[in-house]
Amino acid sequence: MVALVQTVAYLGLEARGVEVQCQIAPRLPRFNVVGLPDKAVKESQERVHAALAAMGLSLPPKRITINLSPADLPKEGSHYDLPIALALLAAMGVTDTEQLQDFIAVGELSLDGRIIASPGVLLAALHASGQDKGLICPAAQGTEARWASGIPILAAPNLVSLLNHLKGTQQLAEPEPGVAQEPGFGPDLKQVKGQESAKRALEIAAAGGHNLLMIGPPGAGKSLLASCLPGILPRLTSAEALGIM
Ligand SMILES: Nc1ncnc2c1ncn2[C@@H]1O[C@H](COP(=O)(O)OP(=O)(O)O)[C@@H](O)[C@H]1O
Ligand SMILES: [Mg+2]
Repeated sequence: MVALVQTVAYLGLEARGVEVQCQIAPRLPRFNVVGLPDKAVKESQERVHAALAAMGLSLPPKRITINLSPADLPKEGSHYDLPIALALLAAMGVTDTEQLQDFIAVGELSLDGRIIASPGVLLAALHASGQDKGLICPAAQGTEARWASGIPILAAPNLVSLLNHLKGTQQLAEPEPGVAQEPGFGPDLKQVKGQESAKRALEIAAAGGHNLLMIGPPGAGKSLLASCLPGILPRLTSAEALGIM
């Protein structure tokens, strides 16, 4: 039987879908990762092995083949640990393959089974949201992933709690969206003396998202008025914040 788990490959600022396929065949024991893995991905088998051992599971004495498809796309990074472990657990019958089909998984594993942060979670979350899937990611990055529109997010601290959640014996808390850093506002519009019509024009432009042309002699306060604009603009929605990222 072949177990499948979806993940992503990062290509610059883009995430491309990658399928992790795991087959356990009754042949001489061997663990192979194919599909153009780089060194970090090749080494994931050691971490996966240790993380499973930390849960009290040993690898079956059979031939385990992991294929990262599409096989001609180079795979880089440590975030393949988690999808490889999940595909292996599904092939071993520890977890349900069908349940995993609704998710994209990213995350690095530590030797004791913790799921630790790996770069690029936001890209993976945006990709998952485009595919109408949920995301399985490290607990530390749940708030970052939450920025992608309303997809289900399983932010798990370790493999055991993730498996328990999938089985239904434990509930992982839904992560809250991360708090955006307060922008450093310029001068306050209150500081501007007089100029009532200019201030009103500024407020209308800010509220309606209109363009503004200011004409006046040097020293009339154009630069001052312009620097007051960020302070009265409405807060960005998360979609807008992602758009100007
Ligand atoms: N209405 C005003 N209220 C308070 N300070 C003003 C006002 N208009 C101009 N200033 C001050 O005068 C100086 C010149 O203004 P500035 O905005 O640089 O003019 P402009 O860009 O039109 O040449 C700045 O130090 C500004 O703070
Ligand atoms: Mg000026």
